Amino acid sequence: MQPNFWDERYQGAAFFYGTDPNDFVAAQAHRLRPGSRVLCLAEGEGRNAVYLAGLGHQVTAVDESSVGLAKATALAAERGVYLETVTADLADFTIEPGSWDAIVSVWCHLPEPLRRQVHAAAVAGLAPGGWFLLEAYHPRQCGRGTGGPATPALMMTLPALRQELAGLQWQFEADTERDIHEGAGHQGPSAVVQVVAQKPEAA
Ligand SMILES: C[S@@+](CC[C@H](N)C(=O)[O-])C[C@H]1O[C@@H](n2cnc3c(N)ncnc32)[C@H](O)[C@@H]1O
Repeated sequence: MQPNFWDERYQGAAFFYGTDPNDFVAAQAHRLRPGSRVLCLAEGEGRNAVYLAGLGHQVTAVDESSVGLAKATALAAERGVYLETVTADLADFTIEPGSWDAIVSVWCHLPEPLRRQVHAAAVAGLAPGGWFLLEAYHPRQCGRGTGGPATPALMMTLPALRQELAGLQWQFEADTERDIHEGAGHQGPSAVVQVVAQKPEAA
């Protein structure tokens, strides 16, 4: 794969978003059944995936940055956990239907057509009872300089997510402001959306 924006951002020893898990993932992880098969979308340097693997889950991290995923593998080794990594553009990555107990999406900011495609595949990809956890920047975040994409077109609102994740049962949602401290990359008051949704259990 050609060097890209994210490969360049992840060069160097420092973890751009730190090595601690995202606060929302850490707060919601209790919902997952022991030994869950977890797919972390756009997982970058792997902090959330490594955290979840440390809880005993079987975790796969997918991201287009091979540099980020190499650091994820190194972090997993340092923590003594196993992590599967897949270097792929989400446009080309197949989420196998019914095969994941949880899908985690943290700051996975994609162009809207691809985001819709990935979210539809995520709904299909969850096994009955499986969890979808998402935290993303809201368009209000644009211009604050505390984190997130440069354009609101890559950010998300709850009404859009409700449409894109149709078929899941909503367990929690928030459109809120919170103070974020994640490495050098995210620092300060931020406008975010959060979703916890569950695939209905089979009848
Ligand atoms: C803000 S970082 C978040 C990383 C990680 N989820 C975290 O919370 O630390 C966004 C990530 O999205 C990945 N990404 C962006 N577009 C992608 C695509 N089309 N396919 C796969 N990964 C993508 C980037 O490589 C980057 O690692």
